[in-house]
Amino acid sequence: MRTIDWVDGHVLILDQTLLPHQVKMVSIATPAELADAIIRLAVRGAMALGVAGAFGIALAAFRAHEQGRSVDRAVDEAAALIKRSRPTAVNLPWGVDRALEVRAGGPLAILAAALAVRDQDITANRAIGQAGARMLQGVRRVLTHCNAGALAAVETGTALAIVERLHQAADLEVVYVCETRPLLQGSRLTAWELGRAGIPHRIIVDGAAAGLILSGAVDAVVVGADRIAANGDVVNKVGTVGHALAARRAGIPFVVGAPEATIDPTRASGRATPIEERDQAEVLDVAGHRAAAPGSTAFNPAFDITPADLVTAIVTERRVLTPASSASSDGAHVAL
Ligand code: MRU
Repeated sequence: MRTIDWVDGHVLILDQTLLPHQVKMVSIATPAELADAIIRLAVRGAMALGVAGAFGIALAAFRAHEQGRSVDRAVDEAAALIKRSRPTAVNLPWGVDRALEVRAGGPLAILAAALAVRDQDITANRAIGQAGARMLQGVRRVLTHCNAGALAAVETGTALAIVERLHQAADLEVVYVCETRPLLQGSRLTAWELGRAGIPHRIIVDGAAAGLILSGAVDAVVVGADRIAANGDVVNKVGTVGHALAARRAGIPFVVGAPEATIDPTRASGRATPIEERDQAEVLDVAGHRAAAPGSTAFNPAFDITPADLVTAIVTERRVLTPASSASSDGAHVAL
C-alpha cells in the first residue's frame, strides 16, 4: 500500500486524518481538492508533499487538456495554489517545480516527471535507511518524533526506514514514540506503522522525552526534516529541538534522515524559513472538544528549528553530513 500514487488519471492518497482507526484511500481529481487535502493533513510529511506537488501539476494539465482549457494557464494556477497550501516543507515547491520544468512537453511529459519524483522518493529513502542503520549499528533504544515513516513519503520513510533496518538487524529493543502534540502524528501514525511492522515501541507524551533521554534510557534520537538550511539548521515538527538539546546534554547522537531534496541552499539558516502557524483550535481543543480554559488563546507553530551545532548527522541518499562537528558556536557557518 502506498501513501500516495497516480491511478487512472487521479491522485490516490491514504487519508491520514482517519488513521489509525480507518484505512481509507481517497481519489483526488483536481488541484483544488489536492490543496484541500494538504491543508487538512490528509496527505502530509515532507516527501509525500513533494510527490503531491508534482502530481498536482499533472492533475491540472490533464483536467485542462480534457476540458479544452489552456494547459499553461492551468498549471500556473495549480502551482500557485499548491505552493501556498503549506509553507514549511521545501519538498512541496520542489515537487511542483520538477513537474513545471517539463511543461512544454504537455500532460504526458508532466506526468512522467511526477512519476519520477515518486520513484526517486522510494529509492532515496531505501538508501537513507541503509546508511542510517550502518551509522547507528548496535543502537538498541531509539526515540523519534512526529512521523517520518512511509506515511510521510510514498512507501518507505526516512527516520523510520533507519529504525526498520535496525530492527531487521535484530539490534532494536524499543522505539520511544513521542505522541507529537497537537495532532498526534506520533501516537496515531508512527505507532500504527511500527505496530504493523512488528517493531517494539512505547508511546510517550512529548514532555516525557527530555527526562527519559537524560535518564540514560535512549541511545539515539532519529527524526526527519521538512527543510534543512544551507548552514545545517534542521526545521522539523515542533518539539524536535527539545529532543536535540536533551540528546546533546546526554551525549547521544541526534540523527536526521532526509533526502537531498529537503536541503534548501537558498535559506542561509533555519531562521530564514517560513514556519507554518496553524489554527489555535488544534491546541485549545482535544478530540474536537474545548479543553482549554474559556477565553484563553493559543500559539500553534507547527515546526521548530534545531540549530546545526546540535545535529550529529544528516543522512541523505548520497552522503552523511555532520553539521555539529563543523559548526561554529552559533551554528551559522556550515556549508552543506
Ligand atoms: O505537519 P506534518 O505532519 O506534515 O509534519 C511532518 C514532520 O514534521 C515530519 O517529521 C517531516 O515531514 C519529516 S518526515 C518526511
